[in-house]
Amino acid sequence: MALIVKDILYKKLEKAFEKLGYDKELITIAYANKPEVADYQCNSAFAIAKKVGKNPVEIATKIAEELSTAEEFDAVVSMPAFINIKLKDEFLMQVAEAVLEDEESLIKKPERKMTVVLDYGGANVAKELHIGHLRSPIIGEALYRLYKLMGHNVISDTHLGDWGLQMGLTIAQLEEDGYLEGYFGRGKNKEITLDTLNEEYPKASKRKAVEEAFKQKAEKYTVYIQKKQEPFWTIYTDIRNLSVEKIKDNYLTLGCHFDLWYGESNAYPYINKTVQIFKDKGLTREYEGALVVDVALEGENIPIERKSEDEPQRYKNPMPPVKIKTHDDADVYATTDIATIMMRNKDYNPDRILYIVDFRQGQHFTRVFRATKMAGISPKEQELIHIAYGTMNGADGKPFKTRSGETVKLQDIIDMLYEKSSQRLAENGITDNPELAMQIGVASMKFGDLSNVVSKDYVFDLDKFSSFEGRTGPYIQYTGARINSLLEKGENNIGKIYVSSNEERNIIVNLIKMYDSFVTSYNDNSLNSLCMSLYNLASAYSLFYNNIKVLSEKDETKKKSYLALSKVVLKALKLGLNTLGIDMPNKM
Ligand code: ARG
Repeated sequence: MALIVKDILYKKLEKAFEKLGYDKELITIAYANKPEVADYQCNSAFAIAKKVGKNPVEIATKIAEELSTAEEFDAVVSMPAFINIKLKDEFLMQVAEAVLEDEESLIKKPERKMTVVLDYGGANVAKELHIGHLRSPIIGEALYRLYKLMGHNVISDTHLGDWGLQMGLTIAQLEEDGYLEGYFGRGKNKEITLDTLNEEYPKASKRKAVEEAFKQKAEKYTVYIQKKQEPFWTIYTDIRNLSVEKIKDNYLTLGCHFDLWYGESNAYPYINKTVQIFKDKGLTREYEGALVVDVALEGENIPIERKSEDEPQRYKNPMPPVKIKTHDDADVYATTDIATIMMRNKDYNPDRILYIVDFRQGQHFTRVFRATKMAGISPKEQELIHIAYGTMNGADGKPFKTRSGETVKLQDIIDMLYEKSSQRLAENGITDNPELAMQIGVASMKFGDLSNVVSKDYVFDLDKFSSFEGRTGPYIQYTGARINSLLEKGENNIGKIYVSSNEERNIIVNLIKMYDSFVTSYNDNSLNSLCMSLYNLASAYSLFYNNIKVLSEKDETKKKSYLALSKVVLKALKLGLNTLGIDMPNKM
């Protein structure tokens, strides 16, 4: 059986409305305001009354009468003219049994199976991962799991930033500092480590802004790499391998996996073809030596009148053209993104590509998507979606930084999470369990992040995120661990599930809401609704756990039912956490 209570309700209301001659557009179903009285409510009678000029109570009564034969629920009119819908205990028992048998009863799989590529992670080679690369893998991994659960064919690709100027800059700096003599046949190489890269890239980046000659050299080197010219290509490959190792290590700690460890560079074989298509279709023009594609629509790029000749021209609704080749024939960010779409279409022919990238890149994606559609590189029906996430802020409401105002490295965040959860565990008397500490640390971070609407900014509050109480990842984990130990003590002796108390009822109603939340999270591409429902289910279980003495229950049938219901909750919590990319430890 499926838990599609809203669908069942809707169908029955539809039938009733049809029979009574009411407009089906007016059907509304909401969770009840007073959960002690009802589970759902239908407030349509007011709108119908207005339309047909009759008494709302009369209308509500008629609708309730039509619903009276339903097996799943009772419908009762309450003043002024609500229809309260309360699920029957027998039905709730069936729901719980269904989840016990298979927790995937909590999932409504869409009829249409899609192939979906998810692009997340997006670390840049030669630069250490920093805080800006935290949200993408967290959100991406969760969406990946959610889409898989929905039955789609999913492929994740981390799309490393490995084709841009940063590579030329790093190599130019390394050369000047004498690391690369061997590669150039002028002597011996000096050993390059991650620390070397962490020093050399920022150095180069600063120089670029003030030393024109150095900048030009770096640009030239970038082109050499992109043309696979030696020894630049070998140097590049060595640096890439070195940093990818560290990136993999960081992502793995965060429980983020990728099917493809591709980068911008993998689109190399498609770049010439891509550029040629734009040229053949007459979509390109030259601008200051570079090759660009105009993508602005009507109503964009409206010139704003200038007050004087020297004032630069500004535009209302600016939509600058996409640059696909620089003046010295180098590929840029947009070029590789467009060529990558061509590559993905050839390899997987996806129905949808999701880009989980910071909202600040909104215009980049708008332009890339438009250009790709104009050129016919992406077929009309293919969905290209930018999941634009907001910023992780510090307590001051500004992007999270170190105390001295520097960008925080991803490794630093991982260390902070680990330390904090170790401390929390120690307060509970658990020491020396690094694996558990990391599981809890990751749960703090991921749940703290994912419980917000994806597009919104949020404040990184480690104290709050890591608490074992409240709306946090560790609280859900803790509830699961508690159930686990209860089941062990009860020797897993489960039986048929009965519903006799409000506490039990409440648990099952929350399971049904969890079913809805999976659908909502999937439709919104945002996991906040799933997070909320996990918290509500865990809270409902805590009430049950505190009020009902399971292990000391004398009545065997009841005890077995309690244990079975506990197991249902554990299964549901596990499924939910797993979807968020969070582990459920057995003990904590
Ligand atoms: N490397 C990019 C950055 O650090 C993110 C890549 C996002 N994905 C993409 N297909 N453009 O900003």
